[in-house]
Amino acid sequence: MTYDTLLHKPAVHAGTIDSPMLKIHPAECEQLVEYIRDISGMDIPSSKTYLFETRLGKMVGDLGLSSYQALHDLARTDKTHSLAQQIIDAITTNETLFFRDEKVFDLIRYKLVPDVIDNRAGYARKGLPVPIRIWSAACATGQEIYSVAMVLKDLLPSMAPYRIYLLGTDISAKALAKASAGYFSSFELTRGLPCEKRNRYFSPYGDKWKINDEIRAMVSFQKMNLFHSFSGMGRFDLILLRNVAIYFNREMKKKLFKKIVTVLEPDGFLLLGASESLSDICPDLEPRRHLKTIFYQPRPRVNSNGPK
Ligand SMILES: C[S@@+](CC[C@H](N)C(=O)[O-])C[C@H]1O[C@@H](n2cnc3c(N)ncnc32)[C@H](O)[C@@H]1O
Repeated sequence: MTYDTLLHKPAVHAGTIDSPMLKIHPAECEQLVEYIRDISGMDIPSSKTYLFETRLGKMVGDLGLSSYQALHDLARTDKTHSLAQQIIDAITTNETLFFRDEKVFDLIRYKLVPDVIDNRAGYARKGLPVPIRIWSAACATGQEIYSVAMVLKDLLPSMAPYRIYLLGTDISAKALAKASAGYFSSFELTRGLPCEKRNRYFSPYGDKWKINDEIRAMVSFQKMNLFHSFSGMGRFDLILLRNVAIYFNREMKKKLFKKIVTVLEPDGFLLLGASESLSDICPDLEPRRHLKTIFYQPRPRVNSNGPK
């Protein structure tokens, strides 16, 4: 999927005959592009005027402001950062689905998780629970990390021998609130979730479906900007960083992947979106191929005494 198609989200405010959509001036567009880059790292082309008009136009009106410039100025001076959060919630594209790119979940099930368990066999030998730490680093409304939880549940007959930590983070508070609540529409379930998994892991709740407690309890959610500090996160065996770096420019991508390496176990795995690649972005990560899918691993460090 291209950057362009991902940006096409239904309009927050498409305008009506009674209240036409507020037009944005090119200079206002430039200001907002820079502001959004500052607060999220996302590099929105200034040609995307419709994106600002459809997603931020209503906010300008609701706040009683007369222009996008006024919205920008207010957001820049808002010490509570709540306007920044509203802008992020409106401008991010939280498109996701259960088992997005099925091959990736086969890879997790048949190779990555078994490899993690094998690599941590020392814990089992000492009678300690084997840690398995997985991070969905731009989880949107949660379908990705819940899909991982379902894979683990199917794969591991008992969870007792493992200490599983599944983390979903995103910059959008609105997307995270939905992820954390765990309610999905029938339409969201039909997108990628096999019926057999729906019957096993979801219960009908009014006109929605609620994820079962056993899956919900496996996952923690946290708001996090990928360009903020990773300190205190520990290291992960598997990081899913899918369909988010497409929003960042090359310089920001380089910064991000350099940080990602610091929280990935030396024998850990990184997964990107189907159309993404790291060529020339991060020499510390090397691509590998398995089950027709590419994943990345930290490149072994070589020093004067040979490989570490
Ligand atoms: C298209 S969704 C990807 C969801 C999921 N990973 C997938 O592939 O289905 C992109 C997500 O990245 C999040 N995002 C954008 N910039 C971010 C940042 N700087 N830090 C954390 N999340 C960010 C957005 O809020 C959005 O939910």
